[in-house]
Amino acid sequence: MTAGKPFVSAAPTPPGAPIASSAHAEEAQASDPHRLRHALGRFATGVTLVTAADPSGAPVGLTVNSFASLSLEPPLVLWSLREASPTLSAFRAAPRFAVNVLAESQIELSRVFASRHAHRFAAGAWQCGDDGVPLLVGAAATFLCATVSQQQAGDHVLFIGRVLHFADSHEPPLLFQGGRYRRLGTVL
Ligand SMILES: Cc1cc2nc3c(=O)[nH]c(=O)nc-3n(C[C@H](O)[C@H](O)[C@H](O)COP(=O)(O)O)c2cc1C
Repeated sequence: MTAGKPFVSAAPTPPGAPIASSAHAEEAQASDPHRLRHALGRFATGVTLVTAADPSGAPVGLTVNSFASLSLEPPLVLWSLREASPTLSAFRAAPRFAVNVLAESQIELSRVFASRHAHRFAAGAWQCGDDGVPLLVGAAATFLCATVSQQQAGDHVLFIGRVLHFADSHEPPLLFQGGRYRRLGTVL
């Protein structure tokens, strides 16, 4: 393990020891959400805009970094949406959604789509995919998906989608880690 704040106790965890088996680890997770959020923030992710069309055809979307690949055969991806989101009913009803992986140059879009901005889609250049799903022009990658599963999970709803179409580019992706936007570093 690398040096840093000990997660479980002051005693260093031996390499390979299962930290999840410690009662202290569970106590820390349950009683200290701030510390848990900090620890989760150590995990570096990309940044996406997940989009769909609501039943009236209007675009909906938000900034999401819970996106992950799930399966190659069949091609499945997942992401989660905060249950209190005003877009929840639209995503629950939508047969399709798109995951637009932001390029580094699209950092402003991440801010707009994570804000209370009333007209989020006025920012960025958009094309219309299947079922009116907004697809971001210039994204690092785009995945158009059919919703195959929705599941309540704590205070979020987990969406699983089957990838129907995808596109990628050579644009460097935007990264997020420790609560900050970052860019790709050198190859190790
Ligand atoms: C980098 C980043 C990643 C985010 N990831 C998620 C996510 O995975 N799921 C989620 O529900 N909200 C996520 N959010 C928060 C939403 O983007 C934010 O709450 C937004 O205002 C939600 O839109 P809404 O108010 O229409 O629900 C993220 C925000 C940022 C800045």
